[in-house]
Amino acid sequence: MTHPENPQKLALNPPEIPADFIPRHVALVMDGNGRWAQDRGMERTEGHKRGEAVLMDAVDACLALGVEYLSAYAFSTENWRRARGEVRFLMGFNRDVLRRQRDVLHEKGVRVVWAGRRPRLWRSVIRELEEAERLTANNTRMTLVMCVNYGGRAELVDAMKKMAEDVKRGELSPSDISEKQVARYLYDPGMPDVDLFLRPSGEKRTSNFLLWQSAYAEMVYQDVLFPDFTPQHMFDAVLEYARRDRRFGGTK
Ligand code: IPE
Ligand code: IPE
Ligand code: MG
Repeated sequence: MTHPENPQKLALNPPEIPADFIPRHVALVMDGNGRWAQDRGMERTEGHKRGEAVLMDAVDACLALGVEYLSAYAFSTENWRRARGEVRFLMGFNRDVLRRQRDVLHEKGVRVVWAGRRPRLWRSVIRELEEAERLTANNTRMTLVMCVNYGGRAELVDAMKKMAEDVKRGELSPSDISEKQVARYLYDPGMPDVDLFLRPSGEKRTSNFLLWQSAYAEMVYQDVLFPDFTPQHMFDAVLEYARRDRRFGGTK
């Protein structure tokens, strides 16, 4: 079957899953780009370039499934440790992807939100993130959280600093600090808990992604490098998620 607006593109065929079993929030670690390129004798950056179209396909897969929130890990607070050339590439690339894709995302009805730390992040990247946020602010079909210069611990540290400042100003009482209150100080206070934490690339770790929000996430690890990740991988992950028995510490 072909896509009505784009005959080149195959229409997505999501599995039939009852709405209750669709994850509301999917966290996606876009990992394995460097290995993908190196396996082919190419520069690591070639793998990152492939990731752009793959992310857009992942957005389409989530739209087809009815996922409400997709958080994409694009650059971590630890990724500054990489070679200077790769860091520079990733900064410029993030800026360009946002510039290239924001209208496409807007037309799909996707709201773009940035989660990450401001200091050190290139100003041009922040500008594109904020422009995408502004353009898509009223969209309601799905939220795409671009996690750029994001770290779970950094997010908690930043939240604690803001809370401490509010306490100092007398706007927050320590006895009022609850889980709900803490969540209000995170980068995206409206973000629901992560239901499905999905990491391709074969690595089985969180790498500091959405620590607070993933407390009860279902972890799915796939042996595919991100440049080879397809909508079918997203569908498979959601099918696996739908089979899991979530108890949240309780009993049946
Ligand atoms: C993920 O791919 C992209 C970023 C971390 C920005 P990697 O660059 O980590 O690729 P591998 O894991 O080295 O293969
Ligand atoms: C996680 O991947 C960060 C992103 C995908 C942006 P990394 O490749 O940086 O994580 P590690 O080093 O394998 O833990
Ligand atoms: Mg990696």
